Amino acid sequence: MSHLKNIEKKRYLFDLIDRLEKNKILEKNQLCELISNNENTELSEYLFNKARKTSKIYFGNKIYTRGLIEFTNYCKNDCYYCGIRRSNTKAERYRLTEDDILNCCEQGHELGFRTFVLQGGEDGFYTDEKICKILSDVKLNFPDCAITLSIGERSEQSYLAFAKAGADRFLLRHETADDEHYSMLHPDNLKLENRKNCLFTLKKLGYQVGTGFMVGSPFQSVENLADDLLFIHKLQPAMIGIGPFIPHKDTPFSDFSQGMLSLTLFLIGMLRLIIPNANIPSTTALGTIDKQGRERGILAGANVVMPNLSPVKVRKKYMLYDNKICTGEEAAECRFCLSNRIKSIGYELTVDRGDFIALDKLKA
Ligand code: 5AD
Ligand code: FES
Repeated sequence: MSHLKNIEKKRYLFDLIDRLEKNKILEKNQLCELISNNENTELSEYLFNKARKTSKIYFGNKIYTRGLIEFTNYCKNDCYYCGIRRSNTKAERYRLTEDDILNCCEQGHELGFRTFVLQGGEDGFYTDEKICKILSDVKLNFPDCAITLSIGERSEQSYLAFAKAGADRFLLRHETADDEHYSMLHPDNLKLENRKNCLFTLKKLGYQVGTGFMVGSPFQSVENLADDLLFIHKLQPAMIGIGPFIPHKDTPFSDFSQGMLSLTLFLIGMLRLIIPNANIPSTTALGTIDKQGRERGILAGANVVMPNLSPVKVRKKYMLYDNKICTGEEAAECRFCLSNRIKSIGYELTVDRGDFIALDKLKA
């Protein structure tokens, strides 16, 4: 490519970022163009600068913390990428009792957590009644805290019952917004349409909804990623969680390679411009593929961290992917470590529920 053409191309790409910031979305081919250039460091620095400035408008230098409680690793599903899939007979299964969960919350509350994320596989043992009981007891004991559920697909009726019992938020990654790609990551009984319906139902019921996807999952194309961004723009979630795909040795995807750090960071930056006030975590998966991954996620536009509050005795059993970090540390150690990491890049952890506030309400 001639020098002049290079300059033109560069101007075009930078201009696309300006337009993404202004319009909060682009045409699919333009999204693809940007995504394909994620390894261009000048371009990514330009994006991250804008993303950081946008985060600062809404959150200053504050980073919200969510205490993650992985309360069951039983799962009736068989997603090809996931270490706790039903067919992984090597996974040692566990369930936390309600007392275990309340103990985690108590520890977490002392450490300054004001959001608890109850996450688990799709485990039929926890009937709606059981989940509702846990929710109302957590709310009763910690009335100043928000509760986020992350327990997969259930009926509208169940989601409504959970909301009534005290759930404020719900995380359900769409994983990929393309039907065909979805069917390459999941067995036939799991359908993208159901997942999308769940997300819109949760939104309708008044939940702060989180979605997201894995970066670099097997068979993923640049077009798939552009579709993920378009889907997120359409759903307008309150939270967006993305992280690199990391193979797990006892899954059908054991031989695939992990997602790229640069691409994950670039997408975090783009997402910050697409939904400027969204809560975007710098994920454990990001910290697993790079020692400074979580810090770099924040510097690319993320504003949330989700340290683990699960009892250390079960942590190694919630292995969604190989080499997951923080599986040997106590909650207090993680909190301390993260707080230092975040200070080292000029931010600070905050004791705050960190609710999502829609832009029109912010202006009002
Ligand atoms: N690598 C990275 N992320 C994974 N998840 C599940 N398995 C993996 C993996 N092998 C993510 C999924 C799920 C979330 C809880 O963890 O996106 O929604
Ligand atoms: Fe868990 Fe650093 S966050 S040890």
